[in-house]
Amino acid sequence: MSKGEIVLGCLAPHPPHLVYADNPPQNQPISEGGWETLRWGYAKLARKLKEIDYDVIVLLTPHWQTYIGTHFLGCEKFKSLSVDPVFPNLFRYNYDLEVDVALSEAMCDAASKAGIVTQMMRNPDFRVDYGTITSCHLLNPEWDKPIVCISSNRSRHYYSVEVMNEQAAALGTACRKAIENSGKRVVMVASHSLSHRHFTEEAPLPEDMSREHIYNHSQYVWDMKMVDLMRNGEMKQVFDLMPEFTEQTMAETEGGGLSWMMTAMGFPDYPAEIYGYQSVIGTGNVIAAWDPDANTREVVL
Ligand SMILES: [Fe+2]
Repeated sequence: MSKGEIVLGCLAPHPPHLVYADNPPQNQPISEGGWETLRWGYAKLARKLKEIDYDVIVLLTPHWQTYIGTHFLGCEKFKSLSVDPVFPNLFRYNYDLEVDVALSEAMCDAASKAGIVTQMMRNPDFRVDYGTITSCHLLNPEWDKPIVCISSNRSRHYYSVEVMNEQAAALGTACRKAIENSGKRVVMVASHSLSHRHFTEEAPLPEDMSREHIYNHSQYVWDMKMVDLMRNGEMKQVFDLMPEFTEQTMAETEGGGLSWMMTAMGFPDYPAEIYGYQSVIGTGNVIAAWDPDANTREVVL
C-alpha cells in the first residue's frame, strides 16, 4: 500500500447564507440570491476538486463543540434535517451523508496515542452541525465522497487561545500520521471564517446586498494581513499570529481548524490559492486552498 497523503487543504467558511442564496433542493427556504463573490469562488474551487483524485474529505468544525476531548463521527451514515439555531429562516437542510469510519477511527486512535482525550460519536441520531454541512455542500454539492468530521475542543474557553493553538497542532500532527498510514488521498477542510463580529440586526430581506458591508475597519485590516500572509506562503507566521488574531477579531479560528490543517500540511511555504473574500452579516470570509502539487497550483485571484 502506498503512503497516504493530503492532496489539498481548504479554508472553507460556512455562512448558511451561501447555501440559502444557492437554492439547492435540500434547503427549504427560497432566496433571490446574494453573496455572489463567495458563491462563485466556491463554484470554482468545487470544479477544481472534481479534477483531483481523492478518497475522502476530512473536516474540523467549530460548531460541533466538545468540552471533554475531541470527538469523531463514528457511524457510516447520518441523515436528518439540519436547522441553523441562529438563522432558521435561512437554513433548514435535509442532509444524507456518508462517513469513512475506518479513517475516523484511525485518526481517533492516533490522537489518543499522542495524549489527546478522544471519543468516537456512535449515536446514529446525532445531528451533524450546520458548519460541516454548509462547507461540504459548497465544496462538493454532489456529496459523492465520504467525510471524516472532527469536533472542536473548547480549550480556548477552558484555558487560553495559546493552549487551543498548541492542541490543534498536536491533533494535526496525529491526523497526518493516520492519513499517511491509511494509504488514502485526503482533502482537508478547516470550516470557518476569519474575523467574526456579527451585525446585531438582520436586514428585512437577508439577501439585500445593499445592506451587506464590512462591519469594522480594524477587523478588515486584520483579515487582509492574514490573506497577504496566505498569498505569500507564510503559514508558519499565520500559525504564530493565531492567538493575537483570534483574540482581536473574535475569529472562528478559535476552534483550531486552520492551526490543525496547517500543522498537518507542514506549514505551507508556497502561495495559497485565493477564491474570494466577502462580508456575510459583517463577518470576514475568505475561501482559500493550498495545493501541494506545484503543477496544478494556480494563481486564482
Ligand atoms: Fe460559524
